Amino acid sequence: MSDIRPGADAAPVLRMESVRKTFGGTVVLRDVNLAVAPHTVTALIGASGSGKSTLLRCANLLEEIDDGAIWLDEQEITDPRVDQDAVRRRIGVVFQAYNLFPHMSVLDNITLAPRRVHKVGRSEAEEHARELLDRLGLGAKAVEFPDRLSGGQQQRAAIVRALAVRPRVLLLDEITAALDPELVGEVLSVVRDLKDDGMTMVLATHEMSFARDVADQVCFLKDGVILEHGTAQELFGAPQQEHTQRFLRRIVEAGRL
Ligand SMILES: Nc1ncnc2c1ncn2[C@@H]1O[C@H](COP(=O)(O)OP(=O)(O)OP(=O)(O)O)[C@@H](O)[C@H]1O
Ligand SMILES: [Mg+2]
Repeated sequence: MSDIRPGADAAPVLRMESVRKTFGGTVVLRDVNLAVAPHTVTALIGASGSGKSTLLRCANLLEEIDDGAIWLDEQEITDPRVDQDAVRRRIGVVFQAYNLFPHMSVLDNITLAPRRVHKVGRSEAEEHARELLDRLGLGAKAVEFPDRLSGGQQQRAAIVRALAVRPRVLLLDEITAALDPELVGEVLSVVRDLKDDGMTMVLATHEMSFARDVADQVCFLKDGVILEHGTAQELFGAPQQEHTQRFLRRIVEAGRL
């Protein structure tokens, strides 16, 4: 299945084909097909337990798939001969809980991977880190330790850290879920800015209005299946599947869309 979205005729950055994932005999992803075009945002939506995080973890090779294949650019990354660490270096990941190392300054957190893994020199790594921190409104926080930052600032710093290795694609898993409501906006606005800069992103989110506003492609997962996908306009405006309709109706009734 090819899922090339409107406005994106270039080869996908990330592609999944017939992906199947089980945990101890339970199927949690089934026949997942996904194509993420460059410079686009794909939102994964669906009830808790529908498989959004597992899909992202498979894409980053944190989980081994049982069947199917995943490509990053032209490379099949699920090929057993592939250097998985090299693949992960090209994918940025941010999870729900802040992943900053508490014993390191923000700057050291951010430059760690570029320096250790990518062998970038300290001054170059720090220059890039400060540039990114400035862009995400954290210029003044470079030498602070994470516990001196608000939750929203910590999450933005985690995004900077993911960006510091110049990833091909950014995977964002519920990055606002652990935040106080008043801090959600600043993190989402960073994602919007990154989209404007052309960053390719896949995000799992329960923030439906955000998904509707920012996503080029929306995938609705149910029980490990991408039951329906389309543009944000298609999926939110005219969902075809009964399950999608019901899911969205509940969101609307809860005042979340
Ligand atoms: N390591 C694991 N071992 C066993 N089962 C797992 C594991 N990780 C996830 N699962 C199961 O896989 C299914 C999908 O989980 P997943 O975390 O991907 O859902 P999700 O859509 O991200 O949910 P949420 O919205 O709550 O984050 C669930 O039934 C979950 O219990
Ligand atoms: Mg999840």
